[in-house]
Amino acid sequence: MDIKLVKDEKYDIEIIVLKSLKRCEKDEKKILKNSNFEAKEAQIQLIKNKLFVGINSFDGEDIKIAFCNAINFLKKSKFEQIKVNISSGKTEFEIEHIVQGLVLGSYEFEKYKEEKKKSEKKILIDITNSSKSIEQLQDELEKSLNICSSVNMVRDIVNTPPEDFYPKTMAIKAEQIAKENGLECKVFGEEYLKQNGMNAMYAVGQASRHESQLIHLTYKPIVSKGKVVFVGKGLTYDCGGLSLKTGEGMVSMKCDKSGASALLGIMNSLKDIKCEYEVHAILGAVENMIGGNAYKPDDVLKARNGTTIEVRNTDAEGRLVLSDCLCYAQDEIKDIDYIFDFATLTGACIIGLGEYTSAVLGHSEKLKKRILKASKKSGELVGFLPFNRYLPSMIKSQVADIVNSTSSKAGSTITAALFLDNFIKKENKKKWLHFDIAGPAYREKSWGYNPYGATGAAVRLILAFLQRKK
Ligand code: BES
Ligand code: ZN
Ligand code: ZN
Repeated sequence: MDIKLVKDEKYDIEIIVLKSLKRCEKDEKKILKNSNFEAKEAQIQLIKNKLFVGINSFDGEDIKIAFCNAINFLKKSKFEQIKVNISSGKTEFEIEHIVQGLVLGSYEFEKYKEEKKKSEKKILIDITNSSKSIEQLQDELEKSLNICSSVNMVRDIVNTPPEDFYPKTMAIKAEQIAKENGLECKVFGEEYLKQNGMNAMYAVGQASRHESQLIHLTYKPIVSKGKVVFVGKGLTYDCGGLSLKTGEGMVSMKCDKSGASALLGIMNSLKDIKCEYEVHAILGAVENMIGGNAYKPDDVLKARNGTTIEVRNTDAEGRLVLSDCLCYAQDEIKDIDYIFDFATLTGACIIGLGEYTSAVLGHSEKLKKRILKASKKSGELVGFLPFNRYLPSMIKSQVADIVNSTSSKAGSTITAALFLDNFIKKENKKKWLHFDIAGPAYREKSWGYNPYGATGAAVRLILAFLQRKK
């Protein structure tokens, strides 16, 4: 989609966002009323060369949804040049909200469609009534477009089927992103995992014909105001392993690479948002399969930090991969300010918080508050789940240090996070947060301005966190 800022330029159709009919011209008001248009969300009415779109409030999320509705209507029309006014009455829209609504809201995964829809619309944002300078608006536009293209890149990655996107593919993608953005990129295969005691991660990928990949990307600004480390679960497919999922449970498990994929999106935008932190992304790219050489329930695995893990369920594989990646991160990177991990870790998270909300867990209330701020800014929903003194005993093992899966499902998003806590060094406890994105990362239905399938969850949330002023 081609979006530019204009002042007075020819157009085919104009999008008009309305909260009520109050400010409409008499004639238009009459026609709108007659067609039952009341300016409510999801209502849309075309009159000549004006597309009226209803909106509940001028809140950022509502604006995105309104523009998403408008563009999806216009996508099917002949109109080529679409004008958008930066303001509606007294309200001036943020460029970010308009662009996200349009670009994220019109995404479709067409790679595997014989016939592609291909509708190249031109968007003209009329900034005549803006209170901001052209330079600032242009800057906002470029940033917004960049972030949207990172989100859509993540969607493409996650939506790509497992036969076409496996651990090596993820490594190649990481190298490409590194090259384009001037990042450092290190990739390690299974030999490295074995030599460095990363047996938990290695075991998960043992039965796959695709070699597991440990990927480490680094972004360094000229002057750094701190060090941020991200770790991502990159299960390019999760069939559950020998603790096999049901046929139904296996469908859409290509989405299990969403954590690592989100990190690729974030890394792809750091240069363009002029990020002031040094940022590391560690991706554990693995495929969880079955076979004669598969790891088994009853196996005991020793992770990189020496902790032994009794495998009780091979479908609780994400935490095994993350445990070694977390160890790698803290061995290799010193003086960490923040360490966050991202994973589609538990089905229980979807049961607990629903399909739209990521769970956030950690020991620092201050850090969680900062994430809440980033959530409000980005529109990505988060919910906080609490640790307590009783839950850790659930992951005790009779034969090893800990189990990878508890006998009761009670609180299993929290016990999964407590499992990971065993791999966080003392000095980093308050710097760590765990993000379970199993709900919002992928859904077989569109919602708001998110499409069917992958959403790119966590990218905008974390970019908002990195850009916060305080
Ligand atoms: N990748 C799944 C979690 C998941 C489920 C993500 C649904 C997205 C949608 C994870 O590896 C898994 O299978 N978790 C198990 C853990 C259990 C065996 C302790 C689960 O949630 O049932
Ligand atoms: Zn699993
Ligand atoms: Zn999984």
